[in-house]
Amino acid sequence: MRMIAAPLLFACALASTAAIAQSTPKIGVTIYKFDDTFMSYVRGKIESEAKAAGVTISVQDGQGDQSKVNDIQDLFLTQGYNSLALNMVEPTAANVIIQKVSAKKVPVVFFNREPDAADLAKYPLAYYVGAKAQASGTMEGEIIADYWKAHPEADKNKDGVLQYVMLIGDPANTDAKYRTEFSIKALTDAGIKVQSLAEDTAMWNRGDAQNKMQAWLAKFGDKIEVVFANNDDMALGAIEALKAAGYFGPGKKFIPVVGVDATPPALDALKQGTLLGTVLNDAENQGKATFDLAAELAAGKTPLKTVAPLAGADGKPDPNGHYVWVPYTKVTQENYKSFLK
Ligand code: GAL
Ligand code: CA
Repeated sequence: MRMIAAPLLFACALASTAAIAQSTPKIGVTIYKFDDTFMSYVRGKIESEAKAAGVTISVQDGQGDQSKVNDIQDLFLTQGYNSLALNMVEPTAANVIIQKVSAKKVPVVFFNREPDAADLAKYPLAYYVGAKAQASGTMEGEIIADYWKAHPEADKNKDGVLQYVMLIGDPANTDAKYRTEFSIKALTDAGIKVQSLAEDTAMWNRGDAQNKMQAWLAKFGDKIEVVFANNDDMALGAIEALKAAGYFGPGKKFIPVVGVDATPPALDALKQGTLLGTVLNDAENQGKATFDLAAELAAGKTPLKTVAPLAGADGKPDPNGHYVWVPYTKVTQENYKSFLK
């Protein structure tokens, strides 16, 4: 029943929006899935910016299915939307999207899930807003390296090697790939020997991460010395499993767990002393830049100086660039309070 009703409702919603706002520009937005904690903050910011600017937007749920994102995008094009802001499920599908939007000369801003630079370069009206995932991986690794050096007891089996487990995230997203790679690189660059005990995607998801961590604890127990989680939801899931296994709290065992995003629940875990550290993935500025770019483009303007700072694919500042790179920040016990809202 729901399967049939939803597209109809959506079509009606688009039609009525179009009727009300014939002359003002309209922006069509998709989120890869509404049920993603970090993306819900980005989405909230896009919506509040649009409201404050009095701009008409339609924000739709890709439900983790790229074919849905494609269908929504087709509807946006038929309904005469003036620009699109797309958080892809499969960034490789950017190729097909670009063919369709460029045929209609509709600008597109991809965000958070980065398409291939070669695809983006095919269309002058294609942009990307995101963060350099490599940097977040490096910061995760540095937080752990600092802890490892200051706490010799963290090497529980005293073999001079850091044994870790890794919660990767959705592999379709370059954030997952680069955080996995660069977190470990930061350790080896700091001269720390490492050994991976287990890795799993856990798909950015708290419940999946909790189940994985529970299974790893059953298998490896105290052999696990560090937990890398490439986002906070997975870190919080791992912490739940660790708590159930007797970690954290007065007189109890401790294990360093690191995450990424600095969501409010993660900041709370830092306060509780369960999460060692995280990396601010700046949802506010990513949401704002996405909206600003899409709004400028929808109004037919060229976002040269109005949306700063534009860069090239290499990240170097470029006034004609097609990328907005929003910086990450390390968040630890020392500075987390300044990120509380
Ligand atoms: C990452 C973020 C994850 C998840 C993912 C979705 O940047 O750290 O928590 O939201 O994006 O693509
Ligand atoms: Ca060890």
